[in-house]
Amino acid sequence: MANKMWAGRFTKEIDERVNDFNSSVSFDARMYRFDIQGSMAHARMLGDCGIIEKSESETIIEGLKGILADIDSGALEIDPEAEDIHMFVEAELTKRLGDTGKRLHTARSRNDQVALDVRMTAKYELMEIRKLTVALIKTITDIAENNLETVMPGYTHLQRAQPITLAHHLMAYAMMLLRDVGRLDDCYKRTNIMPLGSGALASTTYPINRQQVCDELGFDEITQNSLDGVSDRDFCAEMISAISILMMHLSRFSEEIILWCSWEFKFAELDDAYATGSSIMPQKKNPDVTELIRGKTGRVYGDLNTTLVMLKGLPLAYNKDMQEDKEALFDAVDTVKLCLKTFEPMLATMRFIPENMRNAAARGFINATDCADYLVKKGLPFRDAYKITGTLVHTCIEKGLTLETLPLEEYKALCDTFDEDVYDAISLDTCVMQRKAAGGPAPEAVKVQIGYVREKLED
Ligand code: ARG
Repeated sequence: MANKMWAGRFTKEIDERVNDFNSSVSFDARMYRFDIQGSMAHARMLGDCGIIEKSESETIIEGLKGILADIDSGALEIDPEAEDIHMFVEAELTKRLGDTGKRLHTARSRNDQVALDVRMTAKYELMEIRKLTVALIKTITDIAENNLETVMPGYTHLQRAQPITLAHHLMAYAMMLLRDVGRLDDCYKRTNIMPLGSGALASTTYPINRQQVCDELGFDEITQNSLDGVSDRDFCAEMISAISILMMHLSRFSEEIILWCSWEFKFAELDDAYATGSSIMPQKKNPDVTELIRGKTGRVYGDLNTTLVMLKGLPLAYNKDMQEDKEALFDAVDTVKLCLKTFEPMLATMRFIPENMRNAAARGFINATDCADYLVKKGLPFRDAYKITGTLVHTCIEKGLTLETLPLEEYKALCDTFDEDVYDAISLDTCVMQRKAAGGPAPEAVKVQIGYVREKLED
């Protein structure tokens, strides 16, 4: 690889191994569109500020447009030997325009250029991830709306605890994902700040107009300190952190779906298009998608760790270590997008089995709290009611009965406050319908939750 752009200072060509080691084009080529857009804004500003001739600025912009069109169409291939996408575009421009192309890099460094390109890429990807997350929330709320009365057991310690509905359970995930959207939006605000003009680290002596570039590229404001402008990758750490939390939510949901699809639960069945078989066991239908999401979550946490550790020891300002920001960020982005794109249709096509949910809810004494509350409503202190109900549960287990099938005499033998109306008080439907406090599983309460989420998404 002869004729490095910086060859003047050197007496030898770069070692082939160092060239390969140094190169980032294999993973930063995907930023070409943003690199070119950033360069166009920069060239226009240089022309408008009289730093280069207006006609040259126009020629450069036209040249960049041509390069963009040719990469888009496939007519121009990005050279895998290039040092990075920035050098490739500049070299191609000079190849096409001669000396005029060499004027583009006036009043700019690759350090502020790469900071700009990564921010533009991050902004774009934040919006993409946001759209996919919103689509998933919509699917969840639609399924919830159709299952307001689908009774299922709610769990603590993975032990049946109290009756809830499928809608209530699903809406818990809608709330998590809504917070994820909020985190993506917050991250967007701090990403939407324009670093070009920071130069290599100490800005520039040219009379540039940073605000013009900021406005043309659609950023909110410019970075306020040039050292920070080139070396700030907080937005990467923040973005991967938001993605990690989003992945954690998908992973928890995946884990539940894995359980629900097991024969032990059988609360749901995956559509055949979203499950896989076994190479040896003919009966198997495996939830590979959800397992992969659970697995890939660890990988995204790795990306977060890579980024935080990469940054923690860096003196100001730019250091080559920072080139490692992109692989971690892009891996996290690609992984979460892939997971969201697969999870949403998998969930939308999943068949729930309400009978099995109800059967599970009917066993496990999940109405015991309601039995105790029945006595409390008739005047007993809760601790006494709790103890009496515990004894009743013990009796049921010994006799192989449930609270619903235990005869009234057994109730009365323990506490004569019990009456025929206890059966109504402990029926699953009553247990769910009565839990209508804000946030609860009663259909009317879950309808409010659905309305809340839909309203937030409309904002
Ligand atoms: N490829 C480099 C990166 O990703 C571009 C910046 C290089 N700057 C430098 N001074 N070597 O960070």
